Amino acid sequence: MASSLLSILLLVALSSPPWVVLAADDDGTTHLHFFMHDIVVGSNPTAVQVVKGPATAGSIVPGLAFGDTMVIDDALTETSSPTSAAVGRAQGFYMMSSQSGLVLMVCANLLLTSGDHNGSTLAVVGRDDVAADVRELSVVGGTGKFRMATGYVLWKTSSMSGPDATVELDVHVRTATATGTGAIDGGGSITTGASSGAAAKWVGAGWVSACVVAVVVAVVGSGVW
Ligand SMILES: *[C@@H]1O[C@H](CO)[C@@H](O)[C@H](O)[C@H]1NC(C)=O
Repeated sequence: MASSLLSILLLVALSSPPWVVLAADDDGTTHLHFFMHDIVVGSNPTAVQVVKGPATAGSIVPGLAFGDTMVIDDALTETSSPTSAAVGRAQGFYMMSSQSGLVLMVCANLLLTSGDHNGSTLAVVGRDDVAADVRELSVVGGTGKFRMATGYVLWKTSSMSGPDATVELDVHVRTATATGTGAIDGGGSITTGASSGAAAKWVGAGWVSACVVAVVVAVVGSGVW
């Protein structure tokens, strides 16, 4: 009797972990691809210097010093052409934060203004080593469709014209919702069937674990071993 109980317990124990892992791994990763236009020169700059680093810090490259900080409201577009379809804005700042090279500390909100993600934002923070071919920055959060987002951005200079730059962004994010279809309701909570389905699976897995513990305790307690 004890051995048949044990095999049932073993079956339950062995069958529940992959189920749980599948539910956790199944949350949708969203991939976004667009270009950012950082315009410093001309009559309509989207990047403006707001802090000048102290001269004593020395110049890293001509015209740029440690501590220099730019505030940005850069256009995000579908292709590398600045006149291609607008998809959003990159709003934030970048700061010259290395004493030994052209390295920026980037801190920006990517606001999406088109399609399915209109109005949602992604919070991006990271180190931009301008000399590197591809840089990786962190997605540390988000709002709207991207609430609870985590992920990364691959950041690649597409072209330069003087200090003006076009940067290619590949964003990979995972949100709290299973399919990324969550919408904000009036109360500000996410409403999505997929999300509650995943939650139900987790609750189910927890219930199975509790049952396994309860039965093990009962078997041990009854002294059939
Ligand atoms: C995005 O949302 C804003 C505010 O709700 C709206 O005014 C605008 O028309 C929308 N844009 C697109 C392209 O859907």
